[in-house]
Amino acid sequence: MNLGVCYYPEHWPSEKWATDAKLMRKAGLKIIRIGEFAWTQMEPADGQFNWDWLDQVIGVLAAEDLNIVLGTPTAAPPSWLVKSHPDMLPVDAHGRRRRFGSRRHYCPNSPIIQRYAKRIVETMAKRYGRHPSVIGWQIDNEFGCHETARCYCSKCSISFQDWLIGKYESIEVLNEAWGTRFWSQIYTSWGEIDPPNLTVGEPNPSHVLDYYRFSSSSVALFEQLQVNLIRKYAPGQTVTTNFMGEFSDLDYHQLAQPLDFASWSSYPTGYSEVKSQYLYGDKEHPPQYAYDIGDPYVTGFCHDLTRGLKQKSFWVMEQQCGQINWSLNNSGIRPGNIRFWTWHALASGADSVIYFRWRAGLSGHEQHHSGLLRHDGSPDMGYKELIAMLPERTKMEEISQNQYRAKVAILLDYNDLWAIQIQPHRKGFGYMRHMFIYYRALQNLGIQTDIVSPNADLSSYKLVIAHTLWMGSETRATALRKYVESGGNLLFGVRSGFKTSTNLVTSDPLPGRFRDLVGATVTDWHALPTGVCWEIESDIPGLNGPIGYWAESLLPASIQKNLSSQEVLCCYKTGPFSSNAALTKNQIGNGYVYYLGWYPTVQQTKALIKYIMSLSGIDYLEDLPSGITATKRGPHYLIFNFNDHPLRLSMRGITININPRDVSIIPSEPSDVKKSRGKNSPNA
Ligand code: GAL
Ligand code: ZN
Repeated sequence: MNLGVCYYPEHWPSEKWATDAKLMRKAGLKIIRIGEFAWTQMEPADGQFNWDWLDQVIGVLAAEDLNIVLGTPTAAPPSWLVKSHPDMLPVDAHGRRRRFGSRRHYCPNSPIIQRYAKRIVETMAKRYGRHPSVIGWQIDNEFGCHETARCYCSKCSISFQDWLIGKYESIEVLNEAWGTRFWSQIYTSWGEIDPPNLTVGEPNPSHVLDYYRFSSSSVALFEQLQVNLIRKYAPGQTVTTNFMGEFSDLDYHQLAQPLDFASWSSYPTGYSEVKSQYLYGDKEHPPQYAYDIGDPYVTGFCHDLTRGLKQKSFWVMEQQCGQINWSLNNSGIRPGNIRFWTWHALASGADSVIYFRWRAGLSGHEQHHSGLLRHDGSPDMGYKELIAMLPERTKMEEISQNQYRAKVAILLDYNDLWAIQIQPHRKGFGYMRHMFIYYRALQNLGIQTDIVSPNADLSSYKLVIAHTLWMGSETRATALRKYVESGGNLLFGVRSGFKTSTNLVTSDPLPGRFRDLVGATVTDWHALPTGVCWEIESDIPGLNGPIGYWAESLLPASIQKNLSSQEVLCCYKTGPFSSNAALTKNQIGNGYVYYLGWYPTVQQTKALIKYIMSLSGIDYLEDLPSGITATKRGPHYLIFNFNDHPLRLSMRGITININPRDVSIIPSEPSDVKKSRGKNSPNA
């Protein structure tokens, strides 16, 4: 487990560098990320490079035995470049050309940015690709940030046409795939196809989905261009990019594919304010935890999603270490949180945690953002906390040696996500929000969960949740069948199998290609306005109460064919689907397929998961109190209290007293437990 920091030496006089490096080392930092916005300092004029300062910085850091992650500087193209090639600037969905003056001001399809990015990255990689202190690279910075995932410029328009030719080969095939007979949208040649923005009414959803896919591929190609150069000239160094956790404008599985590992930028207080707004439901107020700690489930969700991108340990490439500047309140934080967040990342499978940033900046947009040091260079809380954490580092190291292991996977498919986003049908029906219900239920039961692509290897999971596998395909159905036959449990949620891969509605009875797996037909579906609820009934403890939002009526094949492999686990008690099946179970080989026909609450989801877990003999913890999370990494449980009050909980017969904003570490085998531990437990 390495700790590190993001450093901007180009913001400070060179006299400070050596002192900085010494202080970094003293605080136990090992990895320093530099360079990701310093293009103009590296290339002050077209083709004129200045590496002296960077050579010197790397030398100074290396002298303190610090390792370096170099950022490629493509998120901040120089002014001289933009001014001489203004058409490299991106165009937004409103058709506005964006300007120079902040960052991310380029269109990934611009041949200019591609040419100049190639040159700067190649020159950099040649220079530092074999430097013993440079251990890895970060490509660009937060692809898609500031709404830059999709560009609508004329170059993109042409690239989109080429992308479509590559995909469909003939215009007739495209017309069929998009269903363009609707509203007479039929195209007679490729050149007629524009990006789907600025249409008078709603554009064709198949067109929009392909534009999202094309945009994601454009970014992935821009990333790949850089990865190739680094692989070529820096063969022994690792390559990653920093993702933004639960961010949905790009297909993160596609972007993660060429990387060695995934990393992300973790700002718990900001994400809890900004992301909670859509991750929690309309009527559901996000519960209040300690005001300065963030939301346990939002942060956990992002950690787990990032880990799932490569199904392996990840890095936190930017870890909040004080107040931030881009959220709503940008609240100050109290001592203890930085340690807490570091342990939380570690418990979630992080290998390295890199704090953002070294010293608070004096100029530019982020001048109100904290660093480990204050603006005046004196230690801020973050630095002090790192020093206080030094005695715990051995324990951290020991725990980080263990792989994170999850028994459950939730499937995340960005195509499904986009298609739901394009046509949610019911206001507020968010793909991630729906997934987050299942996620919270699992967290409340202390069940470790990977959030993975449906194309990932699922064989090690006991339960796979496809909360909305909207697009059905034969290949997908076959792969899932194989998983279930060999003993897996597969749980489908509402709206699964409704669509084809080009975003048309399937002409098969629902749930389309998954109907054989489910062993039942969705005969009807119904969006319920807020406040309208129906009752359900079931023998499964806790699976009752009102349901709302979205409901589907199920007709199991067994009713017609008398098959004993199928069961109805829950029925509607009131409403138009009254007495119809709401939850079914179908045995296939050694496993089971469940279809949950309504948009569940966290409580209902928990009841169902407990039922499935108990049947399969899988371990879970009894309901954890709100704001408490528990994760096992190796032979330890790490238990976190995100609340502002102490809690006493009983876990498997052990009483644990846990302080506010504190972590407690206990052996996962009860026989190893000698006593319960509180503050500073890792050294107890
Ligand atoms: C991140 C970004 C950093 C910095 C930081 C501020 O999203 O990658 O460059 O802007 O936010 O919190
Ligand atoms: Zn463009």
